[in-house]
Amino acid sequence: MQHPQQPVIPEQSLDRDCTTLSRHVLQQFSSFTPEAQDISAIMNRIALAAKLISRRLSRAGLMAGTLGFTGETNVQGESVKKMDVYANDVFISVFKQSGLVCRLASEEMDQPYYIPENCPIGRYTLLYDPIDGSSNVDINLNVGSIFSIRQQEGEDLDGEAKDLLQSGDKQIASGYVLYGPSTVFVYSLGKGVHSFILDPSLGEFILAEENIQIPEHGAVYSVNEGNYWQWDESIREYIRYVHRHEGYTARYSGALVGDFHRILLQGGVFLYPGTTNKPEGKIRLLYESAPLAMLIEQAGGKASTGTQRLLDAVPDKLHARTPLVIGSQQDVELVESFITDWTRRKSDSEETGTAKVAKV
Ligand code: F6P
Repeated sequence: MQHPQQPVIPEQSLDRDCTTLSRHVLQQFSSFTPEAQDISAIMNRIALAAKLISRRLSRAGLMAGTLGFTGETNVQGESVKKMDVYANDVFISVFKQSGLVCRLASEEMDQPYYIPENCPIGRYTLLYDPIDGSSNVDINLNVGSIFSIRQQEGEDLDGEAKDLLQSGDKQIASGYVLYGPSTVFVYSLGKGVHSFILDPSLGEFILAEENIQIPEHGAVYSVNEGNYWQWDESIREYIRYVHRHEGYTARYSGALVGDFHRILLQGGVFLYPGTTNKPEGKIRLLYESAPLAMLIEQAGGKASTGTQRLLDAVPDKLHARTPLVIGSQQDVELVESFITDWTRRKSDSEETGTAKVAKV
């Protein structure tokens, strides 16, 4: 019953407008503990980084020094873009003197970056890909940022951050920002997956969808088919299967965050399998595939290396890569079944000395 003194607020949309990212993060915790305050402060800083990157991207074609390459090559052997450097530095800057994060590890840095003034109290590590899909920047297509938060374990006295070499289940939170027609922030603290849209007039991320659930199956398969002859036969068999069956459609943007976002909302599967040149594929475990795997599991989907649950994979180094199959449960399982089937036939044929094992 409405209290007689209470003003009536009929506008549900007003309530929605007031659910900002920071309020939502705090609501995820049952009480106002120091951990709740820390995580909420970290998420606010990530949101600030996202707003700064979004602002720069929206003006990239108008400002000098934003598009194109720096002429450097990063630790992955990839040419570095000016936006990669800018976005990487933004993440570092927003965490300086925060007392929150002692170490940051990113695709753009060979070794973790320590913020010594934070280290006595900052017990968290931020892992991130500042600009995912940066080949899209120069042509005004979508790109993203991916992040993962882990608790620092031990003192890390030798500065090697070995405690990061653990499975994805160690993540406390993960998420991404999609810089598209609007800027979208998606995150999970292990209690569902939630999305927010940046309202530029307010400078706030406003709740768009709570507890996103991925469909069990979707029409989309998202893969770089240019690598067809570099894949294992199992993946080629899967691709021939979707070519020959109705109800499948290909979508691939060259930016993982965009392709993943489509699949999270509409179902389907994204694959980056191993290739002859890169047997572990291209996607980095700690700051690309593990954060997305946490999100997809929280949304009721599945993430796999093709042969094991992705969140069980343990990296042997900071920039380790794994093959990635991620998306709707049924679609991921279908890809896995092709891999298992092929592996079994291959080992049977090796035992019996039969040469031909290809099915289709
Ligand atoms: O990992 C970086 C990345 O740019 C992803 O965003 C994207 O899905 C993939 O690489 C594209 O790689 P390729 O050009 O080999 O298909």
